[in-house]
Amino acid sequence: MSTTETDSHETPPVSGRGTAPLLSARRVEVAFTAGFAPGGGRGTARAVDGVDLDVAAGEIVALVGESGCGKTTLARVLLGLERPTGGEVAFEGSPLRYGSRDMRRYRRRVQLVQQDPTGSLNPRRTVYESVVEGLRVHKGTLADEAERVADALAKAGLRPPERFLPRYPHELSGGQRQRVVIAGALVLEPEVLVADEPVASLDASVRGEILRLLLDLRADLGLSALVATHDLGLAWNIADRVAVMYLGRVVESGTVEEVLSAPAHPYTRALLSVLPEAKEEPVVLSGEPPDPKRVPTGCRFHPRCPVLASGEAERAGVADRCRTVDPAILGGGAERQVACHWAAADEEGRVGRG
Ligand SMILES: Nc1ncnc2c1ncn2[C@@H]1O[C@H](COP(=O)(O)OP(=O)(O)OP(=O)(O)O)[C@@H](O)[C@H]1O
Ligand code: SF4
Ligand SMILES: [Mg+2]
Repeated sequence: MSTTETDSHETPPVSGRGTAPLLSARRVEVAFTAGFAPGGGRGTARAVDGVDLDVAAGEIVALVGESGCGKTTLARVLLGLERPTGGEVAFEGSPLRYGSRDMRRYRRRVQLVQQDPTGSLNPRRTVYESVVEGLRVHKGTLADEAERVADALAKAGLRPPERFLPRYPHELSGGQRQRVVIAGALVLEPEVLVADEPVASLDASVRGEILRLLLDLRADLGLSALVATHDLGLAWNIADRVAVMYLGRVVESGTVEEVLSAPAHPYTRALLSVLPEAKEEPVVLSGEPPDPKRVPTGCRFHPRCPVLASGEAERAGVADRCRTVDPAILGGGAERQVACHWAAADEEGRVGRG
């Protein structure tokens, strides 16, 4: 595990499972001018506030955190839909270029899967028309478009595809609609899917099927995915790696087993403690809900941190640092990392046990 305390780190040369990252964010920042922010208020909202994140070929990375922590904003930046106000996004090691021709080429390779299939499908279009749309936008009218659409539907688990082609969204179940949305992404044969809360609007009974589909797509097509979700259970079921986000920063990252079986950051511990299957007492976070227009000094989690509030951080000799020193921006790679002074002291054996 690496826990550094300065605001600098060497960018790791490799990521994921030993291969160069396919998609990476480097020191990405997105600041929104206030007044337009949902909820209003003055000041600048630092929705994403210095994030490094890598997605390697064939890797599924879950970006988890509570509502408003910046998951969707970061996902939109990775898709090139939002330009970062600081830092950069790179694909295959090259920074994104935002000209319209470059973006069109990029979007073929990195596709969005939207949260709400009902909202993202036009109710007056058949399945065929919905799926073929992206293909026509990106590649024009191809002689074999019908074949490509049928193939994408089959890959998304709508078989036989002919049965679904003439149907309208209202004739399909929620799960089938989400499969149509996924087929709309697959028809362009992308290398990365960015899925923002891909099952949040679905019934619990079909969530598992859609997650299974994402895993099958990785196994069959070698697809990578970034899955943004507030649901740690979902991350556990699907991801290789997890990045936990709090108030615009990744505060803990590592493999699913490392982060979810042995969480080191007090925020991750609190999130896990409120899952129904948790064994320990639920940790209810006190203090003001996080506001990206007022990012606290020092560790951004310190006003709500149970370890600081209980005196544990004081006993470990890090309480002042908690209030005044911003922990490092974590690197984006596969290494286990935690942005917490107390976790660093714990690793060095300075935290008393018992
Ligand atoms: N267009 C915008 N203008 C101003 N502020 C914005 C804008 N979009 C998002 N924000 C703010 O940025 C912060 C991060 O929002 P974002 O939607 O990325 O969070 P999220 O983690 O996806 O939340 P949720 O789980 O609710 O989807 C929030 O405080 C939000 O109010
Ligand atoms: S750095 Fe301090 S305040 Fe921040 S999470 Fe760790 S213990 Fe809590
Ligand atoms: Mg969101």
